[in-house]
Amino acid sequence: MSASPQLLRNLHLATLSEPTGYAEIPGAALLIHEGRIAWLGRAVDMPAEVAGLRLADVEVVDGQGGWLTPGLIDCHTHLVFGGDRSHEFELRLNGASYEEIARAGGGIRSTMAATRQADEAALLASALVRLDGMLREGLTTVEIKSGYGLDFASERKMLRVARALASQRGVNVHTSYLAAHALPAEFQGRPDDYIDACIHWLHELAAEGLVDAVDAFCENIGFSPAQVERLFLAARALGLPVKLHAEQLSDQGGAALTARHGGLSADHLEWLDEAGVAAMAAAGTVATLLPLAYYCLRETRLPPIAALRAAGVAMAVSTDCNPGTAPCSSPLLALNMACTQFRLTPSEALAGMTRHAATALGRSDVGRLAVGLRADLALWRIARPAELCYWLGGEPLIARWHDGRQV
Ligand code: NIG
Ligand code: FE
Repeated sequence: MSASPQLLRNLHLATLSEPTGYAEIPGAALLIHEGRIAWLGRAVDMPAEVAGLRLADVEVVDGQGGWLTPGLIDCHTHLVFGGDRSHEFELRLNGASYEEIARAGGGIRSTMAATRQADEAALLASALVRLDGMLREGLTTVEIKSGYGLDFASERKMLRVARALASQRGVNVHTSYLAAHALPAEFQGRPDDYIDACIHWLHELAAEGLVDAVDAFCENIGFSPAQVERLFLAARALGLPVKLHAEQLSDQGGAALTARHGGLSADHLEWLDEAGVAAMAAAGTVATLLPLAYYCLRETRLPPIAALRAAGVAMAVSTDCNPGTAPCSSPLLALNMACTQFRLTPSEALAGMTRHAATALGRSDVGRLAVGLRADLALWRIARPAELCYWLGGEPLIARWHDGRQV
């Protein structure tokens, strides 16, 4: 049952409904009815009636002179995992590289061991703590990957926990199947057999309704483009969209491969070349930028932001929340670092966590403020939208709506 209608007044809107800028409406009002945005505009232009509703009779919410934006969308997270990797953080500070740790059985495979060991209740409890941190920063949609189970039962467990999170909190959850994240020890030396297994498991998990998209890690320490392509073909035969961890540590041509398969997004992209940019532009594949992983790995090579911008590739911004390369559940910190590390403008960064993040999840009903879209909203105690990127820390959120309901 949808909540009763609400009229939000005494606020300004950053609608993000135009290709550039915030698309601001100062001195605005917004009507929520049956879970959707029923009207928005300047308060002085407000009609007396909308869709048979007399606005004079509708409950008024005081926006406190703040700014209303679409609820934030984190389109790339590994929110569900067991254990943590503070030990490897310490090893890196003592000189080891991420790749050396991965090759020595650490990295993704150490989180795999902890994730296999944890039961659903434990995984749910630890993920809820991280999710709640994100919700306190205005999040209304989150993508959550598997990829730390690396066997059928454990990948299934992770996806079930991701689905369970959506029933525990007011948030949309999109799941991505990422079994092709690392090679588990039982398949050592047999990566092609492992991809066969991933495809087999995918059929079962998709039939259970646990998979919204298929992801992989295309890298020297992950899987080759040919292996990824076999997985992508299986995904597409099931009608599932694909996305990829591409060009994070080296140029594998992963973004172009993703574009060839009509992929939703290619993510990371520090090593993306001109041909990859052109392929993404032609296919409408979103570039998901992950500045926290860049920062935590102390990368020095930036994604080709200027080339992506010039080619008109939509850029999403996401936390990449994971225990290895981005132990962080703060969407606002990712916004800040998209600006400070990657030199996005604040309006580009905010569009990257609203409008373009929605596209990266194949959603057109969220991520912008417009009549008819779902009322997934965040109200902020700020004087200008750029403050969402400017502060490091702070608690600017006043209120959050999911599906037209204040949560
Ligand atoms: O997005 N690149 C691969 N996957 C993750 C890291 C996972 C991990 O180290 O646990 C990422 O950076
Ligand atoms: Fe990732």
